[in-house]
Amino acid sequence: MTLTDTTFEEYLEATRDERLESYKAFLRIPSISALPEHRDDCRATATWLAAALERAGAEHVALEETTGNPAVYADWLHAGPDAPTVLVYGHYDVQPVDPLDLWTSPPFEPVVVGDRMLARGSADDKGQIHLHVAALAALLETRGSLPVNLRYLFEGNEEDDARHLRAWLSANRERLTADVAVISDTSFFEGNLPAITIGLRGNAYVQIDVQGSPVDLHSGTYGGAVQNPANALAQIIAALKGPDGRIRIPGFYDDVVGLTDAEREAFAALPFDDEAWRAHSGLGSLVGEAGFTTLERIGARPTLDVNGIWGGFQGEGSKTIIPAHAHAKMSCRLVPDQDAERIFELIRAYVAEVAPPGVTVTVRNLHGGSPFSMPIDHPVTMAAARALAATFGREPLFAREGGSIPVAADFRTILGLPIVMLGFTPPDDNAHAPNESMDLTNYELGIRCVARLWDELAGAVGPDGTSGKGTR
Ligand code: BES
Ligand code: MN
Ligand code: MN
Repeated sequence: MTLTDTTFEEYLEATRDERLESYKAFLRIPSISALPEHRDDCRATATWLAAALERAGAEHVALEETTGNPAVYADWLHAGPDAPTVLVYGHYDVQPVDPLDLWTSPPFEPVVVGDRMLARGSADDKGQIHLHVAALAALLETRGSLPVNLRYLFEGNEEDDARHLRAWLSANRERLTADVAVISDTSFFEGNLPAITIGLRGNAYVQIDVQGSPVDLHSGTYGGAVQNPANALAQIIAALKGPDGRIRIPGFYDDVVGLTDAEREAFAALPFDDEAWRAHSGLGSLVGEAGFTTLERIGARPTLDVNGIWGGFQGEGSKTIIPAHAHAKMSCRLVPDQDAERIFELIRAYVAEVAPPGVTVTVRNLHGGSPFSMPIDHPVTMAAARALAATFGREPLFAREGGSIPVAADFRTILGLPIVMLGFTPPDDNAHAPNESMDLTNYELGIRCVARLWDELAGAVGPDGTSGKGTR
């Protein structure tokens, strides 16, 4: 260990309490992007984050207006023209907190329980942003400089609608020149083993609205002679998927890239226990598309799931009506090379085909994002693997995750960057669910890992982003 590393470590140890207080302050602002009543909270969170970046020593710190919540931009560009430039991404927006009664403590009153920070956003993704800012502060404080140029881009609509940042990215391409993007918004693997995510699914999110009569009708006076929107909606949804788990929309699988033998072997080699995973999730059994393992179903196969369904009478007791309308929110997870826009068109055409007569059915495109994958042997992936091994003391696994981070594909197509998914949350972080938590050992080691990654990238990535000074 060099002298500067010792100073870095001592600084981090001396500032731990203060850092946790700052982390808590960040978590206290309820930045729920999906709910319009939290718009001001999202802006307040962006403002808080901008101030934290400023304090850490970042420059050109700015709130960037988008069509949604503001993004936060900052940079530190003094490593010199021969050093690579890294674009760091995270999102400060969080998911809604319902059902509230299942939280053991209020979601926006962060508390440390055991070795976990418990609060909405502690893991997804405020904790991961916070550790990046902490790494910057510690490096500049103890070394006074960095081996790479850094641009930070933290957004406020990841959980809600990728189109806001996508439009901003397209309009600000020339300000974002970089050699590699580091996205810290993923998790470790089962058993809390360090992992690098090399694939993510895309997403096509739609709403189906079924309209009958303008008002609810007496189900005795009208029943049997008119279409029922709730029944019609059920009929439509039932037509979308077969009992074998296959999606029945014609053309849906056309662009799905099948698994090679090598990929299937890689999935099979991951330490994953179906039974333990089932039990941990509180499920009676696992079901899915025939012919695929659980990890393949999650990492490499597309899905169609209803996210919410409503209509008609919901109160206690009974009310005899034919509801005027019924609705469903539904999303498909997509895999390479499916395209969200094309899938939306296929869903719309098929729903129109299977919709029964007597109701008006509309399908709206709420948002979408493309799937994404990175080669295991890319120099930036290998640099991240070395950084994880050096700080966590274990060689990382490489996994394809079922979740979506639409900006990953956008960074590739709009900015042309290779990407490292360097995420630190434990696999049981309860992201999106009650009692979200972040493992504080991962958080602390994550800071060291980020610092180490900058060293590794400085040696491994040239200004062309693919091969490195150290390897050329
Ligand atoms: N951090 C997650 C993505 C993720 C989930 C990565 C699980 C790895 C494992 C991200 O914040 C997220 O939740 N994304 C949404 C995107 C959607 C709204 C388009 C998702 O996957 O549901
Ligand atoms: Mn996230
Ligand atoms: Mn999320």
